[in-house]
Amino acid sequence: MRIALIPGSFDPFHNGHLEVVERATRLFDSVVVAALRNPQKSNALFSLEERRDMMAASMGHLPTVSIVSVSTLLVDVARDVNASAIVKGLRAVSDFESELQMAQMNRQLSGVETLFIPTSSSHSFIASRLLREVARYGGDVSAFVPEPVNIALHEKFDGTTP
Ligand code: PNS
Repeated sequence: MRIALIPGSFDPFHNGHLEVVERATRLFDSVVVAALRNPQKSNALFSLEERRDMMAASMGHLPTVSIVSVSTLLVDVARDVNASAIVKGLRAVSDFESELQMAQMNRQLSGVETLFIPTSSSHSFIASRLLREVARYGGDVSAFVPEPVNIALHEKFDGTTP
């Protein structure tokens, strides 16, 4: 059984992330999507539990996908779920430098391989950081995120349900 582990901050989960998960489901028997803390990114907007709930609501149509949210090392999650490989999306060359470094570190720590899926150009500009910024000032991000995430952003910033 081939199991992919797709890790990320997912703060919040967006359509570029969803594209990578959907494509991974065609390559692996099952896919575990893990919301983790990125210590380089303090001041998260959503708690890990909120992120997990939004992701579950956004991926109900994908029966081979399961979701975890944990505050631990990625290689420990990879071991716990018996991952065949870590899978990450690449939006642009600028993503590659840090992703390469993490892939090499994770392989040194545990032997787990990392595979990259290039996102489609229609999603390459979408970044959680920009979505948080646009949504905070009342901009419409509904074209870039699954509906449960759009609802959660509205509840977070203006207390309304779209
Ligand atoms: O979406 P991101 O922020 O690029 O994801 C980065 C993430 C969460 C995958 C990375 O920070 C991570 O693996 N965090 C868990 C702690 C860990 O294992 N750190 C060592 C990475 S080599």
